[in-house]
Amino acid sequence: MSLNERKEFVSLTKKYMEDPKVRQLEGYKAHGKISVFSHSLSVAETAYKLNKALKTGCDLDVLLTGAFLHDYYLYDWHDARLFVNVFKMHGFTHPEKARENAVRDFDVDERVQKVIRCHMWPLTFRSFPSSREAMLVCLADKICALKETVLRW
Ligand SMILES: [Fe+2]
Ligand SMILES: [Fe+2]
Repeated sequence: MSLNERKEFVSLTKKYMEDPKVRQLEGYKAHGKISVFSHSLSVAETAYKLNKALKTGCDLDVLLTGAFLHDYYLYDWHDARLFVNVFKMHGFTHPEKARENAVRDFDVDERVQKVIRCHMWPLTFRSFPSSREAMLVCLADKICALKETVLRW
């Protein structure tokens, strides 16, 4: 990321980086030892870089808000008691929970809600990422999850 890109990225994500509600994500584990906050920041950076590299022309506010809040579900998914049955497992249900929380706390618009709702596609098969922003966050999330679990970067 160039210096100018870094400045742009910071200016667009500052409000989430500094928000105490978002900082709660530091207390939840995503993959391995990585917190949901660190994971969300990585997804935002990766989505930003993909958008620049692929010249996708995304709305950066939608892209980065969606990336930062895509896992804003605010619970510990390692708690097995939350798994009521196989169809209610974390992977299937957390996008909707994150979307609800993002609407409640940040009043995000429909475009951002789509990014959050569709980020687990194709697992959540009917929630296809049918916008450029949703597609890039879906891809960035998988790249980051792979790095954090398999490659342990
Ligand atoms: Fe997720
Ligand atoms: Fe994620």
